[in-house]
Amino acid sequence: MTDFVSLPFYDLFHENGHVPGIREKLPPLLTGVRRSILEIGAGTGLITTSIAEWTPAEIFALEPSAGMRGVLLSRLNARPELLKRVTVLPYDALSLDLAEPVEAMVMINVLYALDPDYRKRLWPVLATQLEPGGRLVFTWRDGGPPAPSPLKELESCQVGRHTYTILSETIESDEETYKARYLYRVSEGDKVISEEEIVGHAYRPVRDVIEGELVSAGFARTDAPDGFLAWGL
Ligand SMILES: C[S@@+](CC[C@H](N)C(=O)[O-])C[C@H]1O[C@@H](n2cnc3c(N)ncnc32)[C@H](O)[C@@H]1O
Repeated sequence: MTDFVSLPFYDLFHENGHVPGIREKLPPLLTGVRRSILEIGAGTGLITTSIAEWTPAEIFALEPSAGMRGVLLSRLNARPELLKRVTVLPYDALSLDLAEPVEAMVMINVLYALDPDYRKRLWPVLATQLEPGGRLVFTWRDGGPPAPSPLKELESCQVGRHTYTILSETIESDEETYKARYLYRVSEGDKVISEEEIVGHAYRPVRDVIEGELVSAGFARTDAPDGFLAWGL
């Protein structure tokens, strides 16, 4: 399970990685949402707890990975008031089957994990689970996939006597898909204590592709800050 290689590193690197930017740009996109929000790919809950602070809405936090979900539930457990308001859905986005449509859907740093076929099947499913007039908001990076590049250190973080480091290389890429290798290393000085590798594919559809898919599923684009796309039904 690749998840269990990267999971111990997740909050160490993301709490100060993409999360501050999301916490700045996402709240205005959720203005007026009061009843219900679905967060797709909630991960360890770094954004989930913020959503709970910005809105009074009931939250459905969908997360297929048992490891990520474990950290998410632990985070919620530390905030008893949130246990009443957040339901954790333990399956993937295509399996979505809510009792009633939600007012808003949020998907932060998840698009890269969805292969093109899965993604095309997902939009119509989301359209059936969103209220008329509801909004779908997700992070999206323009420019297509990165070009192949050699292994380099992305970041490192000190935990007691140990240094946690993530390195990555892009092995190959085409118009939308790229294959990347990640090394997750724990070291003490020059001594490597553990080093594990993940090799996998990721996806960065260009704007025309993503717009074509969403428009076909009945969505219309609305204004969003850089790094986000927002859609209404
Ligand atoms: C980079 S993490 C982002 C987590 C969280 N949104 C955040 O910003 O911290 C990507 C998450 O998407 C989830 N994911 C991957 N494929 C998914 C799918 N098909 N449906 C729902 N979630 C998925 C992963 O399990 C992972 O937790």
